[in-house]
Amino acid sequence: MTGSVFLVAGATGRLGEATVRLLAERGDKLLITGRNKDRLAELAKSHGTPGSLETLAVDITEPGGAQFAAAEAVRQFGSLTGLVHLVGQFSVGPLMLTDVSTYAEVLKSNFLSAVVATQAVLPHMTEGGRLVYFGSPLADEPLAAVSAYAASKSALISWMRSVAHEVKRRGIHANAVSLTLVDTPEMREERPGLDLDHTVSAELVARAVGFLTSAESDGMYGSVVPVLGRFGFSSVLAGGPPPGVGGRR
Ligand SMILES: NC(=O)c1ccc[n+]([C@@H]2O[C@H](COP(=O)([O-])OP(=O)(O)OC[C@H]3O[C@@H](n4cnc5c(N)ncnc54)[C@H](OP(=O)(O)O)[C@@H]3O)[C@@H](O)[C@H]2O)c1
Repeated sequence: MTGSVFLVAGATGRLGEATVRLLAERGDKLLITGRNKDRLAELAKSHGTPGSLETLAVDITEPGGAQFAAAEAVRQFGSLTGLVHLVGQFSVGPLMLTDVSTYAEVLKSNFLSAVVATQAVLPHMTEGGRLVYFGSPLADEPLAAVSAYAASKSALISWMRSVAHEVKRRGIHANAVSLTLVDTPEMREERPGLDLDHTVSAELVARAVGFLTSAESDGMYGSVVPVLGRFGFSSVLAGGPPPGVGGRR
């Protein structure tokens, strides 16, 4: 898919840099968005070449911002292949200590922002277009005290699978990556005791994005690609692996 143009929404976060790097090195043209102007400028400086990477500071969770971003991508690069929707927010807290406004905020950033951004890009997209979203294993196996986050990611994935059916007749592919915790220096600082074996690098997630935005995934509509590394839910009932089988490397 030479000459691809992507709107990378929420590029200022933890997965943004690896994703932008991979797509830019591949030769894609990118409009990267976020609300943090300074971070956008840093990304452009590190990964942009003239005429191939533009930045836009905008709140893409609002319909006006999303429509402006989609139109800007077309104005800058002449077409729009698709959307990489990195916008999101983690939330943890027990039900009775979580105000309904938190639920609304988390639903907005994780789910409704995808609706708004997709409605903005689709009118500009044609055959072979790509829509990529980001889910979590917590959507399938919600643990305690992540109800807002798990519900928002669950909504996102059901919605994506429905939309995939709507747009596939136009040759447009909507898919998602489901990922475990991403290993970052900040995360290591915040959670020093964490078993890093259950995390993945941003580069590995970016490679899945590269796949879902390339012709290699031409057969995929409405799929959820797991990038879970060696993560797994555990139970005391399950015990460990049998001796000599599948031990920690
Ligand atoms: N990192 C992980 O461990 C992990 C694990 C599972 C799933 N995911 C999912 O993967 C995607 C990307 O992850 P990430 O770690 O890069 O995300 P992130 O750093 O938490 O956030 C990505 C970007 O979303 C934008 N954003 C967040 N809330 C927003 C709001 N209310 N309005 C507008 N923009 C907002 C922020 O950009 P600005 O502040 O610049 O606007 C931020 O840079 C997300 O959907 C996330 O839920 C991540």
